[in-house]
Amino acid sequence: MNNIFEANETNITKAANIIKKGGLVAMPTETVYGLGANVFDAKAVAKIFEIKKRPNFDPLISHISDFDVIPDYVETDERIMALAKRFWPGPFTMVMRRKGQNAGVDLACSGLSTATVRMPNHPVALSLIRKSGVPIVAPSANLFKSISPTTAQHVYDGLGENVDMILDGGACKVGVESTILDVSGKIPVLLRAGGTTLEDIESFLNEKVVVSHGEPNRPNAPGQLLRHYAPRHKLRINVDAPLENEFYIGFGNKNGDLNLSSKGDLCEAAANLFAYLRLADKLAEDKSLAMAPIPEYGLGLAINDRIKRASHD
Ligand code: TXA
Ligand code: MG
Repeated sequence: MNNIFEANETNITKAANIIKKGGLVAMPTETVYGLGANVFDAKAVAKIFEIKKRPNFDPLISHISDFDVIPDYVETDERIMALAKRFWPGPFTMVMRRKGQNAGVDLACSGLSTATVRMPNHPVALSLIRKSGVPIVAPSANLFKSISPTTAQHVYDGLGENVDMILDGGACKVGVESTILDVSGKIPVLLRAGGTTLEDIESFLNEKVVVSHGEPNRPNAPGQLLRHYAPRHKLRINVDAPLENEFYIGFGNKNGDLNLSSKGDLCEAAANLFAYLRLADKLAEDKSLAMAPIPEYGLGLAINDRIKRASHD
């Protein structure tokens, strides 16, 4: 574990130098840990796919720290700038039309005509991006299809010493990935439910957002793959009463071996979700997993999306 470093100023500066030299740094964000590289460095971007064992059709999110780089990178309009000002920094990602040509960006965008951008709400991520002086492209710092990491230790457990440096900024506060909204066309389309609620987006835009369910085998967002975020044990969801041979993850007044939030707080449940799925995997032994029903509003949309995929076999 000698690649985990406390995220203080000195280590963030070291991490920025790694990024500038084409290395990979795992960084904390408010959603999950990201595996970061310089977006303009094609070799570094390629290394991300290799380490994650991620198929190349899967495009990556570019993380920025300041608003003024947006127009250099993508085509903007009034709606995009308004959404950026309202939801950034935060767990919110926009798919926009790309500008300019660069081999690294090309690879990061899987050759699509769109680029995906977000400004994370985490002091360590923002400081690292500023010190690096480039947008940092970063998928979740886990192996493809496995449970996303919400601590530095989770990153290490999945990727080990393949990452040049893991910046430890503690546990992620939001705990599920960002919401992805495609604003490259006339009508905004939700590609992935996440840390920013659909209700908040619709009320800000004052219009209904189309929710995409994707094509399971050739998805827009591979987060839309039917099986994703999967624990090793079989998982059954929407379970009111677990069977005898099930390790039960409760919610609210449905207590179990673990409880995502005994207060029934969806924010707390989202923050605990991935860590508890990992923990359940460790503790369940020969049992399989079952999870209590999670209400389908607010962050519940993101939680239900993830556990639906995690339970698919
Ligand atoms: O919260 C998050 O978004 C985290 C942190 C690290 O920022 N990142 C994250 O990245 O979840 P990743 O790569 O695990 O998921 C990004 C998703 C993928 O499913 C990808 O297919 C989709 O975004 N995506 C990226 N660019 C896209 C594009 N141009 N069009 C459609 N989907 C895109
Ligand atoms: Mg991911």
